[in-house]
Amino acid sequence: LSGIATGAVVESDRIGEGVSIGERAIVRAGAALGDGVVIHPNVIVGPGVSLGDAVEVFPGTLLGKAPSRTASVARAPTEVPRTVTIGDGCSVGANAVLYDDVSIGPESLIGDGAILREACRVDARCIVGRYTTFAYEVTMGAGSRIMGETHITGRSTIGERVFIGPGVRSANDATFGRADDVDEVILGPTIEDDAVIGVGAVLLPGVVIGRGATVAAGAVVTRDVGPGTTVMGVPARPAGDDPASARSSDRSGP
Ligand SMILES: CC(C)(COP(=O)(O)OP(=O)(O)OC[C@H]1O[C@@H](n2cnc3c(N)ncnc32)[C@H](O)[C@@H]1OP(=O)(O)O)[C@@H](O)C(=O)NCCC(=O)NCCS
Repeated sequence: LSGIATGAVVESDRIGEGVSIGERAIVRAGAALGDGVVIHPNVIVGPGVSLGDAVEVFPGTLLGKAPSRTASVARAPTEVPRTVTIGDGCSVGANAVLYDDVSIGPESLIGDGAILREACRVDARCIVGRYTTFAYEVTMGAGSRIMGETHITGRSTIGERVFIGPGVRSANDATFGRADDVDEVILGPTIEDDAVIGVGAVLLPGVVIGRGATVAAGAVVTRDVGPGTTVMGVPARPAGDDPASARSSDRSGP
């Protein structure tokens, strides 16, 4: 038996057992809710949304937003299917927005206020922290974790078991939108498996952070980082490769 609060609008007939739907939530026709799903008040579940068993969605969240198509945008959004798929046991925080064609693997946590634009793929057991934003076509491998207030730019690739600290920024367009065909030049960073990115680091367009590499807090990564390498500073250089420290050791000579 499911509990549907007064004032909820439930157009779908694909509602599992033991589902709870809060006041003023809207579940559009075509949406599918697994067993034990909890929809808090004021959530909007779009028509192409599929929620696995035991998914919990906190108040004010919008699942299934179409990308905006105003004339002001440099790159017209790609046409995507109007689907959102969220795996079993996920938690989606309050006031999150998931655009069309987003999928989230089982047991993942999407924090309060997180925004994932169209065509993003998040694998199982991931964390997308509070107020973290993903632009379009981002992939995130299993077991990766991103802390709060990070921005992952469009067309970024994140491997498995990656850790990204809070407030990391990334970019995907070295032309600042000036290219004749912006879509051709856009490429976000690739972060390979087991790499870690320190708080507040900046990753410039197209850089590859190698497997198991470390990017220090506050580094600005302008070039690829080799596997297992630690880089730091602005611009980021391998640790121990700092001309300033080389000069100071010269001065300490005989
Ligand atoms: C890069 C990092 C991993 C190095 O850690 P470490 O090996 O313990 O290094 P140390 O603290 O011994 O510092 C080694 C040298 O690098 C310098 N250094 C350390 N971190 C630096 C940074 N982020 N940027 C520039 N230089 C840095 C230190 O000043 C020190 O220089 P010195 O030898 O001239 O004094 C660490 O400093 C760092 O940035 N961690 C990020 C943590 C983080 O963001 N976590 C997110 C979870 S909340």
